[in-house]
Amino acid sequence: LSGVPGFPLPSTHTQQAYDPASDFTSRWTRADALQIKAHSDTTVAAGQNSIPAQLTMPSIPADFPQINPDVWVWDTWTLIDKHATQFSYNGWEVIFCLTADPNAGYTFDDRHVHARIGYFYRRAGIPASQRPVNGGWTYGGHLFADGASAKVFAGTTYTQQAEWSGSTRLLHTNGNRVSVFYTDLAFNRDANANNITPPVAVITQTIGLIHADFNHVWFTGFTRHTPLLQPDGVYYQTGQQNEFYSFRDPFTFEDPQHPGVNYMVFEGNTGGPRGVANCTEADLGYQPNDPHAETLQQVLDSGAYYQKANIGLAIAENSSLSKWKFLPPLISGNCVNDQTERPQMYVHNGKYYIFTISHRTTFAAGVDGPDGVYGFVGKGIRSDFQPMNYGSGLVMGNPTDLNTAAGTDYDPDPQQNPRAFQSYSHYIMPGGLVESFIDTVEGRRGGTLSPTVKLHISAAASAVDLTYGNGGLGGYGDISANRRVVDFLAF
Ligand code: FRU
Repeated sequence: LSGVPGFPLPSTHTQQAYDPASDFTSRWTRADALQIKAHSDTTVAAGQNSIPAQLTMPSIPADFPQINPDVWVWDTWTLIDKHATQFSYNGWEVIFCLTADPNAGYTFDDRHVHARIGYFYRRAGIPASQRPVNGGWTYGGHLFADGASAKVFAGTTYTQQAEWSGSTRLLHTNGNRVSVFYTDLAFNRDANANNITPPVAVITQTIGLIHADFNHVWFTGFTRHTPLLQPDGVYYQTGQQNEFYSFRDPFTFEDPQHPGVNYMVFEGNTGGPRGVANCTEADLGYQPNDPHAETLQQVLDSGAYYQKANIGLAIAENSSLSKWKFLPPLISGNCVNDQTERPQMYVHNGKYYIFTISHRTTFAAGVDGPDGVYGFVGKGIRSDFQPMNYGSGLVMGNPTDLNTAAGTDYDPDPQQNPRAFQSYSHYIMPGGLVESFIDTVEGRRGGTLSPTVKLHISAAASAVDLTYGNGGLGGYGDISANRRVVDFLAF
């Protein structure tokens, strides 16, 4: 092990696989996350990029096109099977996006309590160079009828109700039944957007049918919405324990090592009440006698224990995927970061990668990293996961100056790189292609799809492919299927 002068070494992670049902939770430690700072350039001029080039998303031009002027989109996902293969349906590519109405009188930053899952489609098999610059997607509208997802909260008190991220699974690759797994949200807030009672997040399933003819794509069904999971307070923190808890973003898959068994990863927080100073030496993860190690007391005194992200695991208890049981979390980031969002399981060259998105502003005191996508690699779905790239976890961040205050997307620091919030909600697709949405570029707000970029992924390392597209940037919203379903009996 060799480290960066002045910084601690990363923790040792063997990548060893454990039984998915066992209670081994791997840790993204402070020693790991500090490798991001260790590899950040302290000599760049304020507002430049301090992140290594191969881990930086290329700069999105400020004159980006809009997918549709009448709909904001952010978190986006594809039509996948149990192995995350991406399907077109009867000649059409389909994407699912969180959407909100730009003409309804609220701002892009207030979109979350208005989020509805919408869908778009375009003809499959056309290269990006032959499509309109915005990707050429047609908006199909909301996926669920008005009021359908609210039925989960019937009889409870709420002021707003929303549909948050998830995934859409083609149940049989020779048919048209799809299962949507998403996060059903009910808020109970006062006029200042403070919680009267904590938000209620329910991981929910609904089943429908996809249809396509020669002109368009549409869906039927999605009338019954089945609540699947709410946090247990032991593995996964509840709203009662912390009104700012995270419990969302289900992604289901079958493990090639356990054929026929279905799992779900999701975003959670470590169980227990907010503010209890219970990080441990293991969460710090320093090598014995590392001269650059922090003491546990120093870390606790910094307040870092408010940040306790985890990546959860559940196992399906029936074949219709309507009954699930919690298993212990796969990864925790106690005293490291508070949000590991939209986790996905990505199997590549026999290795298991967990990719997840996170923010600079959710890092704990003393650790830092850009907004972007983070990755962990192991030999099975439950492993002693090794954080990718120098043991840090960072896979691809926005151009960011870690030497300068973060600011926010809604209130940028004028000294910060004007692309530090250019994109978010990255999702890794087959072949290492990555889609995301545009948040803010040079102060211009997005609410539209980013240019697709490409990663080379090899063992515990990755690099942005700068030969892909134009200097690394592919087409805007170029989200293509890599398999086709042809099911002309279904319409
Ligand atoms: C990521 C995210 C998801 C959540 C959604 C809410 O961008 O925070 O975790 O489902 O946005 O808008």
